[in-house]
Amino acid sequence: MQALQKQSSHIALSVNNERTEVLFDSYKTLLEVLREDLQLTGTKHGCELGECGACTVLLDGEPVLSCLVLGLACDGRSVITVEGLAEENRLHSLQEAFATLGGSQCGYCTPGFLMAAKALFDKHERPTKAQIREGLSGNLCRCTGYLGIYAAVEDAVAGTP
Ligand code: FES
Ligand code: FES
Repeated sequence: MQALQKQSSHIALSVNNERTEVLFDSYKTLLEVLREDLQLTGTKHGCELGECGACTVLLDGEPVLSCLVLGLACDGRSVITVEGLAEENRLHSLQEAFATLGGSQCGYCTPGFLMAAKALFDKHERPTKAQIREGLSGNLCRCTGYLGIYAAVEDAVAGTP
């Protein structure tokens, strides 16, 4: 009997502001394409059910759960992952604040929180505490109790000129 052949897809997109082409098995999600085909393993693989937020990236500037987006749907689009957050060898103010204020412990949830917070900053110049809580409400953390995360994002807001 003839073995079933996997179907492959080829797309061109912008990843962290660089034009990128990638060939991948057509069934893969954006999360799998990023991690397995582009070796961008900063985006974390959590529940794969849209419940934990660990896989959050920006797609055309909007936060999405990359475990729920097909790679095929990203042709011609722009993806920003946690690897694209630092600017010219300098950590983003959110990354600095997470590192210094206990926003990260095991770190597994951190890329997702950072990207959700980045989306919040892009939308609101100075998000309020309530907006921060709402903006991060789709992300789960098993370690920090969230207070360090909220403190880090609030600190990054306070440091915004
Ligand atoms: S891995 Fe995507 S929401 Fe959990
Ligand atoms: S720091 Fe461990 S899950 Fe959030």
